[in-house]
Amino acid sequence: MAEAFQPDQLATDKAGRYRELAIEIASVLDGEPDVTARMATVSSMLRATFEHFFWVGFYVVDRTRTDEMVVGPYQGTLGCLRIAFSRGVCGAAARERRTVVVDDVDAFPGHIACDSRSRSEIVVPVFGADGTLLAVLDVDAETPAAFDSVDADGLETILRNTFSR
Ligand code: SME
Repeated sequence: MAEAFQPDQLATDKAGRYRELAIEIASVLDGEPDVTARMATVSSMLRATFEHFFWVGFYVVDRTRTDEMVVGPYQGTLGCLRIAFSRGVCGAAARERRTVVVDDVDAFPGHIACDSRSRSEIVVPVFGADGTLLAVLDVDAETPAAFDSVDADGLETILRNTFSR
C-alpha cells in the first residue's frame, strides 16, 4: 500500500521533497490514463514544489515528423515550439536516452536559448512502458549549477512512475 502523505511533516531536504512529491503526483493521477493530463499535472506540481524551476515542461516526440519534438504541457515563459533531435540539450537527452545536467548553458555547444534568463538546466528522457521514448522533461533555472544528481534521481523516479507503468 502507498505510504500516506503527511502534509504536516514536509521534508526540508531536496531528496525528501522529491519523495513526497512522487507520492502526491501518484495520488492525483490515480486512474487517469491521458498522457497530456499526466504531463500537465507533473509540470504544475514540480513548478509549485521547487520555486527555482523557472521553466519546466515537456517536449514530446512528434510521430508525424520523426526528426523533431514539439512542445507539450509546460509552466513558465514562452517556450520554443519545436526542437530537432540534432539540437540543444533536449536533443542530446533524447538521442542518448539519458539525463543531461548542464551547469552553464553558455558552455553547452548548441544550447537553445528559449529565454535568455536561463543559466542552467536538466533534461530527463521520458519512456513508455515498452521503452519507447515519449518525450523529454526540460527544467531550467536562472542560477548556474542549480541541478545535481538528487534532481536527476528525483525526476527520473517521478517520470518512471508516471509514464513507464
Ligand atoms: N534549452 C533547451 C531548449 C528548451 S527551453 O530552454 C525551454 C535546449 O537547449 O534543448
